[in-house]
Amino acid sequence: MKAFARVLSAVVVSMLLGAGASLADPGNIPVDPALAINHPDEFNWRLFADVNKDAHLASRPGVAIWETWADDPGTFPAPASLPAGSAPMWPDPEKACARLRSNVQLNALRSRAFKPFVVPFPDNNPHQQETRRNKATFDFIVGQNLWSRAGLADRFKSGQPIIAPSESIEVKADWLTASADDSKRYHVSVDCNGKSWKLVGLHIISKALPNWSWATFEHVDNAGRCDFIGCHDSYGATVSSTSPLQSAEGEPVVGGTYPADATCKKTEPLTGIFTAAGLDQAVWGNYCLKGSQVDFTTLAGEPTRLGNSVTEKGFVRTSSCMSCHSRASTDAGGLSVLFPGFVKLVGEAAQENSEGPIGSPDPFWFKATDLQVLSSRQTSSGLSGSPDKWLRQPDRRGRGAGAGLPHRDFIYRGE
Ligand code: HEC
Repeated sequence: MKAFARVLSAVVVSMLLGAGASLADPGNIPVDPALAINHPDEFNWRLFADVNKDAHLASRPGVAIWETWADDPGTFPAPASLPAGSAPMWPDPEKACARLRSNVQLNALRSRAFKPFVVPFPDNNPHQQETRRNKATFDFIVGQNLWSRAGLADRFKSGQPIIAPSESIEVKADWLTASADDSKRYHVSVDCNGKSWKLVGLHIISKALPNWSWATFEHVDNAGRCDFIGCHDSYGATVSSTSPLQSAEGEPVVGGTYPADATCKKTEPLTGIFTAAGLDQAVWGNYCLKGSQVDFTTLAGEPTRLGNSVTEKGFVRTSSCMSCHSRASTDAGGLSVLFPGFVKLVGEAAQENSEGPIGSPDPFWFKATDLQVLSSRQTSSGLSGSPDKWLRQPDRRGRGAGAGLPHRDFIYRGE
């Protein structure tokens, strides 16, 4: 009866939102735009609880709902790998497994000899990542034929903006090798090779808001968890704000320990949400909301920043989810127009450290090219100012600096 009520409410909500969500995906989670804009931290904790519910799979016990969603290789396969004329299929969760990969951003930075800010890169990638999207997002990408470079090129020609439906949710997860004891304190999963991994970082984004709602979560034990930008959670943490560690002289202290009580001890309302979602507090209670982002700037025009100490390692100081993702775009060939990240390059910017874009998007990013740019910044009314998500072009090939801006084949292309 309860399950039926849940399904019914999902249907009602999806009808109210004006789209036909499929019931086959328990992850088509109803989202509340008013909560997302007015109380982002509460919104993101509720989303966290919803996406991390046990998916109750027979073949993969203990996996969270988001781990059953479509991953990158499944959403953006090389067209040649599919039978002619066919499109990617929504995965059967009982048959799928986790296909992890190394950090795309770190690899790209290294390949361009970017210098990280303060935190040294490890010699090799110690952690693995995966990206997944719920069925609303998958259906949009596949239904609108945006999963291949050819499809994006067609879209560019049609001039229609790319605007994902409001039920869209995407996650990017960071995993570290798990040891036997880790399942007591971490969410642990097994990949396609049978290897165990522990979850250390989780990005969750939702199209509840026109420019998406952005959040990142960290495991309480992550070294340097609140470095550079602090930790901010006005809903789920008893201490709502933690400053980055500093020396007596005011210099940043990097990679230190932030005790659990600082920003990660849960409030009663959040504990209630965990209980209602059936989340084991001993495990999930160790994850902390580092922060939420709903706008490029504060009301005073100061750039807002948000980055995860693992996922954005090396550039947390100048990490703004929204600003970096606003650079997503496609050109007539279905290629990204901009280098999808850093605006200052070592060697090209007087030895300065690389920096991510922060604050409002720069219109010149999209105009410094003779190619017309169909960026997801266009809204349905044709006005700019509504950057949509990072849209991937899995089978594209690298090209030169065609837009007069640094460019590299940055996007993960599947196997
Ligand atoms: C400097 C640029 C940059 C910043 C800052 C950044 N991202 Fe991303 N993000 C990327 C790129 C490039 C990809 C695609 C490659 C990949 O999956 O790693 C991506 C992928 C993702 C994905 C997977 C879905 C997709 O759109 O491809 C999510 C979810 C995501 N980022 C969320 C976030 C959140 C949340 C933040 C802030 C806490 C953030 N990102 C900060 C560049 C950035």
